[in-house]
Amino acid sequence: MNLVIHDLKPAQWKLIEQDYEGWTVISDNGLIRPCVGCFHCWNKTPGVCVIKDGFENMGQLIHRAGEVVVISRYTYGGFSGFVKNVIDRCLGYVLPQFEIVGCETHHKKRYSETKAFTFIFYGQASTKEEQDIAKRYVRALCSNFRGYVKAVIFREDMQARLPPDTRPACSSGRTVLLVGSMRGLNGNSGKLAGKLAESLTNEPEIVTIQRYIKDLNNLLGLLEDAETLVLCMPLYVDGVPSQMVRLMEHFEQVYNGGSKKVYLLANMGLYESCQLQSLFSAVKQWCVKMGFAYCGGLGISAGELLGELMVHLPFRFGATKKAAEEMDKLVKAINEGSEIADIFAEPYAFPRALYIAVANMSWNRTAKANGLSPSDLYRRL
Ligand SMILES: Cc1cc2nc3c(=O)[nH]c(=O)nc-3n(C[C@H](O)[C@H](O)[C@H](O)COP(=O)(O)O)c2cc1C
Repeated sequence: MNLVIHDLKPAQWKLIEQDYEGWTVISDNGLIRPCVGCFHCWNKTPGVCVIKDGFENMGQLIHRAGEVVVISRYTYGGFSGFVKNVIDRCLGYVLPQFEIVGCETHHKKRYSETKAFTFIFYGQASTKEEQDIAKRYVRALCSNFRGYVKAVIFREDMQARLPPDTRPACSSGRTVLLVGSMRGLNGNSGKLAGKLAESLTNEPEIVTIQRYIKDLNNLLGLLEDAETLVLCMPLYVDGVPSQMVRLMEHFEQVYNGGSKKVYLLANMGLYESCQLQSLFSAVKQWCVKMGFAYCGGLGISAGELLGELMVHLPFRFGATKKAAEEMDKLVKAINEGSEIADIFAEPYAFPRALYIAVANMSWNRTAKANGLSPSDLYRRL
């Protein structure tokens, strides 16, 4: 069995479907739901997602496929909202436990194979820079899925490339912090957004995408006249979580308002904050497309550790010290409306080997809490 995941419209798919005869085809039937970040595909029903919408077995499908082809509209250096949604739901393909591969932390393999992935991007990826960004992104994704990139193909369609409109700047004075995780305010992005808001002078509003997931128009209405938008989101499979890609796509399609200042506050689970690069690139590409001013961001690694510590200890204490100090710089930039260079922070005085040991032990604890033995986490399907 081979597997193709695509976002093509039926008429476009018809033109190439003969190339995929006998393949398992994953396409947009309108039913897929975003990953809610519960990690149950790791610690409750290992290898299978708990959201029963027909996309719960993606990890198993990848495992059974001889090869995997992903066809996506080029979207901010990565996948369209639908394809990214499928990819986010593939998390159970790998194990929760970390190990060092090369010189970076990645997840251990659930299955022994090293899967071949081919990526076909269509749409506006015509410059070398755009293509390089997508190549870097799929390489990172394959490293995390412990497979390899067999080929990356760009098929440009002939849409004229329009320069972004010059928009008048929004002048409402409103600063909105948008939490882009489906865990809402209880997640790590939400907690970090809360800490950021405490130090902002301009009475920021915090809005969660979780609340508006079924009504992106309503959310867009809330963000429309914001002068400053701070995107607070986690890294999902090396990129922007699908629900945020969908919002960004929606903005592109319908937004008619003024220009905004956009800042980014990103966090991730693994240790090396440089793995946030593709997410930062995506937000920057989106800003260019929207005619918004990207003003800089802060990327924080070991988000689960920091999120946990923030509940029990003052932010700035112990391992959160570095993140708190770097957040001061972001706060200053937002308060002044100025630009800063992107900052990447790792836990303070918490070496990588210790982080990996603590994280790996914590999965055994959550397995037990869910009535599983640690060995159940390694289940193969
Ligand atoms: C579907 C999914 C994919 C993830 N992919 C990555 C990843 O590629 N790299 C990484 O470092 N962390 C990854 N994480 C971990 C999250 O970035 C991390 O747990 C983060 O702190 C979650 O923030 P939140 O609580 O705001 O959702 C992933 C988590 C989920 C649920």
